[in-house]
Amino acid sequence: MLKESQNRIRSMALIHEKLYHSKDLASIDFEGYVKTLVHELARSYGVNVDRVTMAIEIDNVPLAIDTAIPCGLIINELVSNSLKHAFPDKKGEITISLRSVDESIELQVGDNGVGIPEDIDFRMTETLGLRLVTILAEDQLDGKITLDRTRGTTFQIRFKKVNNEQ
Ligand SMILES: Nc1ncnc2c1ncn2[C@@H]1O[C@H](COP(=O)(O)OP(=O)(O)OP(=O)(O)O)[C@@H](O)[C@H]1O
Ligand SMILES: [Mg+2]
Repeated sequence: MLKESQNRIRSMALIHEKLYHSKDLASIDFEGYVKTLVHELARSYGVNVDRVTMAIEIDNVPLAIDTAIPCGLIINELVSNSLKHAFPDKKGEITISLRSVDESIELQVGDNGVGIPEDIDFRMTETLGLRLVTILAEDQLDGKITLDRTRGTTFQIRFKKVNNEQ
């Protein structure tokens, strides 16, 4: 549990660090942030990056800070879950994408692992992780969250660009 808290705090600290190092305060290198975050998580969970591969595709969308932070926290939770739960045999693929689609931004985090157990309703877990994701997606980003269980686990979060761009 301590490690989980450490990771949550680290992912927030990383945003602040990126912000601090970025040339103009408003623009953060979100792609660089995601890559560093995911790399750190894999290391923290002792995952072999040759066996669990990461496909990261981040469009050049200028995110406002108030948007970048919840997005970072969501990615932190979902990638941690994939690393922890999806691959009992420690092999598979995790995909992360942030795309600009019309008037919306679409964040997708998925894996081709074992899938979330049927009886788990991601909105009503007793555990903190997925509840936090729902709160961040719906309340912070004012977005919609959907779960696709057809092939492993893929979460999609879609929110309006209005107020979320710099
Ligand atoms: N990508 C995934 N693949 C398979 N099972 C998953 C995945 N993500 C979540 N789960 C299942 O859903 C449960 C709830 O996830 P959740 O993130 O809320 O809790 P957790 O990871 O167990 O603990 P924490 O509160 O520290 O995040 C997990 O315990 C796991 O059984
Ligand atoms: Mg979790």
